[in-house]
Amino acid sequence: MDDLFKEIRSLAQEKKAIILAHNYQLPEVQDVADLTGDSLALSIEASKTEAEIIVFCGVHFMAETAAIVCPDKKVILPVEDAGCAMADMLTADQLRKFKAEHPGAPVVTYVNSTAEVKAESDICCTSANAVQVVKSLDAREVIMTPDRNLAKWVQRHTDQKVHYWDGCCPIHDELTVARVKEARAEHPNAVLMAHPECPPEVLDMADVVRSTSGMLAYAKQSDAREFIVATEVGLLYPLKKQNPGKEFYPASPEMICENMKKTTLKGLLKALQQEKTVVEVEEDIRKKALKAVERMMAVPRD
Ligand code: 13P
Ligand code: SF4
Repeated sequence: MDDLFKEIRSLAQEKKAIILAHNYQLPEVQDVADLTGDSLALSIEASKTEAEIIVFCGVHFMAETAAIVCPDKKVILPVEDAGCAMADMLTADQLRKFKAEHPGAPVVTYVNSTAEVKAESDICCTSANAVQVVKSLDAREVIMTPDRNLAKWVQRHTDQKVHYWDGCCPIHDELTVARVKEARAEHPNAVLMAHPECPPEVLDMADVVRSTSGMLAYAKQSDAREFIVATEVGLLYPLKKQNPGKEFYPASPEMICENMKKTTLKGLLKALQQEKTVVEVEEDIRKKALKAVERMMAVPRD
């Protein structure tokens, strides 16, 4: 393991590559990365990097977002078929039809979407800035895609009418109130932190609703010693690592995104050696998608 780690680090240096890893990646992949974070933080890092190669340890839409903001860099996704079930729930064609049903309403698209869908959107958002993004728009009605749970969460925080696409993240959406009640009964003193991709009934029970990096920041500054974590189980690793004196419990051990677990150290080394798989976005689509992503980046986060 150690040799593999060193080999990856020295090859990354030699090739002027930066390794970015999402908070859900396997512990060893998070450890070998130059930077870890949520979707927004990683997109921002990608846009600022001076590296020649960006290796994105995450899922396809994340690498695609890096390719949108960094056309002059080679963006590598170590596992070609690491997709996102939510991003696959909306096509550009479906969005065009949905827009026609709500003429004039600006489209706010969660970054968990394809480049083609972003290109059809006015502005992007992440779980870290969705409310601020919608509020930044001078519009009485907005369309939000593709996640209905994030959209319903936003609806609670704005007077603007939110029309939403009926997509979801199956991993978060399947978390039930009954399971969360069990976790609460097992850990009565724990703070419940939940990701806004969870169903509204679960978010009603939560003490804190945040993006993955938002949960990391919250846990660090909180005086609480115990936390129930309602998101993909990969986040437990950085939570525990950054807070050695605190306890973290998964809301459900079944919250596993298989696509996020496909990247291994071996696979990462091979990807760096072969510089594969390169993620590219057709220029016309890229330019349109970039406008939506840049507009999002200009909105301040909490
Ligand atoms: P974050 O942007 O909060 O890291 O979430 C990304 C994601 O895919 C959640 O399922
Ligand atoms: Fe997509 Fe859900 Fe996996 Fe996040 S956890 S990458 S939303 S499938």
